[in-house]
Amino acid sequence: MKCANKVAIVTGGSRGIGAAIARKLAAEGATVAIVYKSNAEQAKSVLDTIANAGGTAKAFAADVTDQSAAQATIEAVVKHFGRIDILINNAGALEMRNFGDIDNGHVSRLFSANMGSVLNMMQAAAPHFPPSGGRIVNVSTNLIYSPRPGTAIYAASKAAVSVLTNAFAKELGARGITVNAVAPSMVSTDMTAATPEARRQAVIASTPAGRIGEPTDIADVVAFLASDDSRWITGRTMLADGGLTDAL
Ligand SMILES: NC(=O)c1ccc[n+]([C@@H]2O[C@H](COP(=O)([O-])OP(=O)(O)OC[C@H]3O[C@@H](n4cnc5c(N)ncnc54)[C@H](OP(=O)(O)O)[C@@H]3O)[C@@H](O)[C@H]2O)c1
Repeated sequence: MKCANKVAIVTGGSRGIGAAIARKLAAEGATVAIVYKSNAEQAKSVLDTIANAGGTAKAFAADVTDQSAAQATIEAVVKHFGRIDILINNAGALEMRNFGDIDNGHVSRLFSANMGSVLNMMQAAAPHFPPSGGRIVNVSTNLIYSPRPGTAIYAASKAAVSVLTNAFAKELGARGITVNAVAPSMVSTDMTAATPEARRQAVIASTPAGRIGEPTDIADVVAFLASDDSRWITGRTMLADGGLTDAL
């Protein structure tokens, strides 16, 4: 097991990609703190799945866009589990607006949900990592390389996540903390449930691997970046997209 004796926090762990990450890290031996915003029932179902598989997890309700709520959550996790070794910043939000319809509210909601949440959790958690270091993995998107109409501000807020990843890898490297990001293409979750079928088929047709991503596809990459196996990788954004994006 690659995360034995580690304590991991997964934001947005109640649903979708975050739930798959929480299950995967627990299966790799981590004790998992799931942070969710409001969906207690879904969080409980993830906890039950982990417990039934012999793992340990606890859920914490918090809006991670709120700096003091993020701080309080980190303190609650440390109080309960004693330490933090792995922080997965997966919580995020998507809103589409075409050029001409973008207003300040749209910009501030998306930058707060995607970049602000990551910043809040990183700054709150880093002081609690042990002297031996740890792992931070942020969830970005392949749209940072190839934004589609309507996704400009979402992609910009996730590009900011990738910039924070690179910048803070440099500031935290001396403490043995690596900071990386994963950039998925479309994944089947609640966030993409309303995607028109024609769009889904177009994504499948353009993806060399020939399908839409599943949450476990992303969770396996995150688990690698959360493990000791990734020790020589830091400051990077890793595409996990079935080959869809031409980013070279
Ligand atoms: N799905 C995709 O195609 C795709 C592709 C690329 C990147 N991503 C990124 O991957 C991440 C996960 O996406 P997903 O599709 O799994 O999303 P999802 O199904 O919409 O789930 C979002 C999760 O984040 C939590 N959350 C949202 N805002 C929060 C906040 N302010 N504070 C605390 N928790 C919050 C939700 O909690 P509640 O359950 O309590 O609401 C839920 O657990 C996001 O960052 C997204 O931008 C997704």
